[in-house]
Amino acid sequence: MTDTEHHHGRGRLHGHLTPHGHGMGPMNDPARYARVSGRLSGRLYRRVARDVAALRLPDGARVLDVGTGPGSVPRLIAGAAPGLRVDGIDLAPEMIAWAQQTVTPGVTYTVADAAALPFPDATFDVVVSSLSQHHWADPVAGLREIRRVLRPGGQAWVYDMRWALPETSTVSAGLGAGTSVVRERRLARTSWLNPVGRLVLRPA
Ligand SMILES: C[S@@+](CC[C@H](N)C(=O)[O-])C[C@H]1O[C@@H](n2cnc3c(N)ncnc32)[C@H](O)[C@@H]1O
Repeated sequence: MTDTEHHHGRGRLHGHLTPHGHGMGPMNDPARYARVSGRLSGRLYRRVARDVAALRLPDGARVLDVGTGPGSVPRLIAGAAPGLRVDGIDLAPEMIAWAQQTVTPGVTYTVADAAALPFPDATFDVVVSSLSQHHWADPVAGLREIRRVLRPGGQAWVYDMRWALPETSTVSAGLGAGTSVVRERRLARTSWLNPVGRLVLRPA
C-alpha cells in the first residue's frame, strides 16, 4: 500500500497534535507529511529499502529505523525483505500513531528518542535513519545509541542532507575507539539533485 493509498484509505488522523519542536508545517501533520514526503523523498526511501534487501540478511534479522516519521521506510524494507523484523521509532507520538494505523507483518512502531533507544545492547543487524538526524537535539548522543544497539558485524546508515551530516572526526570523537565512521557525501539514486549523503557506522 502506498502512502497515498493509506491516506485515502483510512482517512486523516484527527485529534490534538503534540508539538515537538518543529513549529508549524507538515511535520506537525502526519497525514500531510506522509503525502508530501512520499512524493519528495520516495527515491531515497526506495534506495534505503534496496540497500537493506541487498544485504540478504537471514529471516529474523533485525532492522531499526530511527526517526521513522510516518513509517514509510520500515514498510518498504518489510516489502523488499519480508523475513526481517523491522522496528521504527520516532520522538513524535502523533507520527507513531499514524504509522501504527497501517499494520504491516514484521513491523513495529514505538515512541522513543534517538538519544535513549529502548532496546538492549547489540539488538540490531542494521540501523537506518533518513532525513531525521538534523532534527536531533544531540546528534552524537543519538549516534552513540545507534552504535550501542548494533550487533557485532552490523552497520548503521544515517541518510541526511549532506551539509547536515556531522564531520567524521566529530562522530569518531563522540563514539570513541571501536567504531569505523565513514561519511559518503554523494549518493546516487536518492533524489534528482542528489543532496543526500550518509554516515556509515560499523563496530570495528
Ligand atoms: C523530516 S522527518 C523524517 C521522517 C522519515 N524518516 C522520512 O524520511 O520521511 C524527521 C523525523 O525525526 C523525528 N525526530 C526528531 N527528533 C528526534 C529524536 N530525538 N528521536 C527520534 N526521532 C526524532 C521527528 O519527529 C520526525 O518525525
